[in-house]
Amino acid sequence: MSRLKRSDRPYDIVLFGATGFVGTLTAEYLAAHAPADLRWAIAGRGEEKLERLRERLGGDVGVLRADVSDPASLRALAEHARVVATTVGPYVSYGEELVAACADTGADYLDLTGEPEFVDLMYVRHDARARETGARLLHACGFDSVPHDLGVYFTVRQLPEGVPLTVDGFVSVDATFSGGTFASALGQFARGRQMLAAARERGRHEPRLMGRRAAAPVGPPRFAPEVGAWALPLPTIDPQIVLRSARALPRYGPDFRYRHYAAVRRLPVAVGGVAAVGTLAAAAQLPPARRWLSDRLKPGEGPSAQKRARSWFSVRFVGEGGGRRVCTEVAGGDPGYDETAKMFAEAALALACDDLPPTAGQGTTAVAMGDALTGRLTRAGVRFRVASRR
Ligand SMILES: NC(=O)c1ccc[n+]([C@@H]2O[C@H](COP(=O)([O-])OP(=O)(O)OC[C@H]3O[C@@H](n4cnc5c(N)ncnc54)[C@H](OP(=O)(O)O)[C@@H]3O)[C@@H](O)[C@H]2O)c1
Repeated sequence: MSRLKRSDRPYDIVLFGATGFVGTLTAEYLAAHAPADLRWAIAGRGEEKLERLRERLGGDVGVLRADVSDPASLRALAEHARVVATTVGPYVSYGEELVAACADTGADYLDLTGEPEFVDLMYVRHDARARETGARLLHACGFDSVPHDLGVYFTVRQLPEGVPLTVDGFVSVDATFSGGTFASALGQFARGRQMLAAARERGRHEPRLMGRRAAAPVGPPRFAPEVGAWALPLPTIDPQIVLRSARALPRYGPDFRYRHYAAVRRLPVAVGGVAAVGTLAAAAQLPPARRWLSDRLKPGEGPSAQKRARSWFSVRFVGEGGGRRVCTEVAGGDPGYDETAKMFAEAALALACDDLPPTAGQGTTAVAMGDALTGRLTRAGVRFRVASRR
């Protein structure tokens, strides 16, 4: 355990990767919205870049230097913080040492990963230690998977208690992505075998759910009249996160099922989207093609402020159980960056400032901070609403 108790640490929040694309947006969000007495710092590998960012942010922001190739610097970073928020990805390549340092020193940790392999390996290797030290390890605290996890949490609470529940989620977005996200996605496509192996290893370690059932089956592609769109199964990390919340929270009922879809209005767009993802996934298997693709969009690059201002997301949920049916929606602006920075910063602030349920080890946003984060995001302009019920 760290020499310093959590309350004695110099910073409430340290933001690692603050000079990257989403890191800078998160730092700007914190500078504009953090309470005046919050002690926080930006961290990264480049002193000059960090100093330039600190000057731009103004205020009393600390600066820490740390590099993923230097484990001692990550340990020092964890020891200096009550909460460590990291944007340094792809996490499967760069993330583990920091998770280990946080688990060992009892610092709360959150990231923006959408990589199931990373999350499963971190569970297998660091969850037990984090439970001993009280560290909360929260992955996927951006568009992956906050609107989906909190949207299902919100939907479930509109339905009767103690009965089997089903929820379908339909994701619509109009947005583009950054170099960092593109690199992570390409990396994931190339690691299908490792991802399955990590999931199997997790399965061997994770306790069985006793007396209740929860599942996230892949639904078939179909026209979904309930949302007036084609529904294509979306095998992202989101249904896995929702499933973990359902396993942890008895409010999801004795038998819970979640299916996750992309919602596309026009069939040709749906077919084109599937073909494009399939081509990208196939190309990512070949190292020369992967290198060529990753040269198209460099780390640190991303959509302009104008493009982001025109971007939006909407996730509609249809929940049923106990003879009731409810349609809900979580919606907001640019999902990948502006809203991701907002969700990430608000999740870090919730860990640092809010009175949350007592949890430790690897968790989800719904379990660790469902009410607090829903409230924070609502106040910050993300819309949670009930569209209809019967
Ligand atoms: N879940 C979501 O919804 C969501 C949304 C957006 C992004 N993401 C994920 O977030 C991550 C960041 O995305 P991004 O677009 O911000 O990427 P980016 O611009 O490439 O930023 C990556 C950051 O990592 C830092 N870094 C790289 N190698 C490092 C090292 N050896 N030591 C210390 N720091 C190092 C970079 O530092 P320098 O500034 O010094 O280069 C930079 O700050 C990606 O994994 C992406 O997939 C997820």
